[in-house]
Amino acid sequence: MKDLRVSSNPFPFSIYKQRPVFVKLVVSLLLLGLAFRLFSSHSFNYSSAVDAPAAISLPPAASTPTSQKAESKCDLFMGKWIPNPSGPAYTNNSCHVIQDHQNCMKNGRPDSGYLYWRWTPRDCNLAMFNAERFLDLMRNKSWAFIGDSISRNHVQSLLCTLSQVEPAEEIYRDEEDKSKAWRFSTHNFTVSVIWTPFLVEAEILEDNNGLSTSDIRLHLDKVDEKWSSQYENFDYAIIAGGKWFLKTTIYYENDKVIGCHYCDGRNLTELGFDFAYRKALKMAFNRVTSAGRKSVAFFRTTTPDHFENGEWFSGGTCNRKTPFMEGEVEVKDVDRILHEIELQEFEKAVAVGSEKGIILKLLDTTRLSLLRPDGHPGPYRKFHPFATDKSAKVQNDCLHWCLPGPIDSWNDLLMAMIVDC
Ligand SMILES: *[C@@H]1O[C@H](CO)[C@@H](O)[C@H](O)[C@H]1NC(C)=O
Ligand SMILES: *[C@@H]1O[C@H](CO)[C@@H](O)[C@H](O)[C@H]1NC(C)=O
Ligand SMILES: *[C@@H]1O[C@H](CO)[C@@H](O)[C@H](O)[C@H]1NC(C)=O
Ligand SMILES: *[C@@H]1O[C@H](CO)[C@@H](O)[C@H](O)[C@H]1NC(C)=O
Repeated sequence: MKDLRVSSNPFPFSIYKQRPVFVKLVVSLLLLGLAFRLFSSHSFNYSSAVDAPAAISLPPAASTPTSQKAESKCDLFMGKWIPNPSGPAYTNNSCHVIQDHQNCMKNGRPDSGYLYWRWTPRDCNLAMFNAERFLDLMRNKSWAFIGDSISRNHVQSLLCTLSQVEPAEEIYRDEEDKSKAWRFSTHNFTVSVIWTPFLVEAEILEDNNGLSTSDIRLHLDKVDEKWSSQYENFDYAIIAGGKWFLKTTIYYENDKVIGCHYCDGRNLTELGFDFAYRKALKMAFNRVTSAGRKSVAFFRTTTPDHFENGEWFSGGTCNRKTPFMEGEVEVKDVDRILHEIELQEFEKAVAVGSEKGIILKLLDTTRLSLLRPDGHPGPYRKFHPFATDKSAKVQNDCLHWCLPGPIDSWNDLLMAMIVDC
């Protein structure tokens, strides 16, 4: 067995004692509403949105920070998925870093239409990722992907594309196989992935199945050393956060409990995941804008999931075979809230960074990812799940992306943003 140890529950929004996440979301939204009312003097008025029963469309591109817009010729993130007859740059047979749970071809996913699309911005041409050119630009340089399992998903996509030109050699892996590094020796180029799902210091206790054995303790005033201690080693970093913030978590500041999220029965103040996400992003951006080295920092926005007819724990699936058209889908409340916080904190960080000559760029993949319900492993996160029983009940993954798959387009965007630097 490949030792890519991944828990049988692939989702960061698993919760303590397996209580249904649905209840948690409802509770968190209710509490959010409350929290916002209590702190409404503070700033943003979400309460109307939070009270709304249904999902709400992402705001139009006008919400993209203006600094970002001014620096690029067009909004790369507004557009649509168009047919791409040439298909993916690699296959499951030509890339050896694809994690089993995302290796949809190998796992027997029968349809392949999802491989033949590419993202095209409305107002400009987006060139396809050019691995040779990218490697040439990256001679003597290093990259870090900093975040959760979606960052790992992304790094594997990039490595697969690059390894069609030069094979990646693994040079580091941590004990848990979560943080890794690879080298492209003829280009003297290093790529790292650093697993830090909260970006700030977290004590996470899980059993072998990825279920919490104790509440997560999150230190909102301490940036996670795992990435912070190495940050100056990198020329480029892609930082991301997201769904882990929905879990049951106890919040600390100055090593003292200040409150919690989804923690009924613990006699603590519910502060809401939005509170913690904003604090964590502030800490992360503060680290980036006070760095001793002028690295280029990308912030990648949250990734929406596509569970339908249920959630991950209640038989939710994602059986669609084609992308959505713009307007055919609405973002879920939780993703919208995460995304809004990201845009707000990013914009503040850009202002601070620009005074110090530190470049920050927004990789705003939320909307274009929302349009790809067809790109997830679904039941094919396991090897031939229906081989012995055609109607087997199988845990679906509607969050991570098949490789190859839609996430490969994120590299087209990265390339455009690097060339634009
Ligand atoms: C790739 O997928 C095909 C099915 O599409 C399968 O026959 C083959 O064994 C897979 N190879 C690897 C290395 O995963
Ligand atoms: C890469 O580093 C080597 C050795 O330090 C140097 O000779 C070369 O010019 C560098 N190349 C680039 C593109 O920076
Ligand atoms: C590789 O790149 C580093 C800078 O990242 C440079 O210091 C070193 O000399 C390079 N090595 C070679 C063999 O080019
Ligand atoms: C809850 O906390 C408050 C204040 O810290 C304390 O006065 C109260 O006794 C606690 N209640 C329980 C049930 O522990």
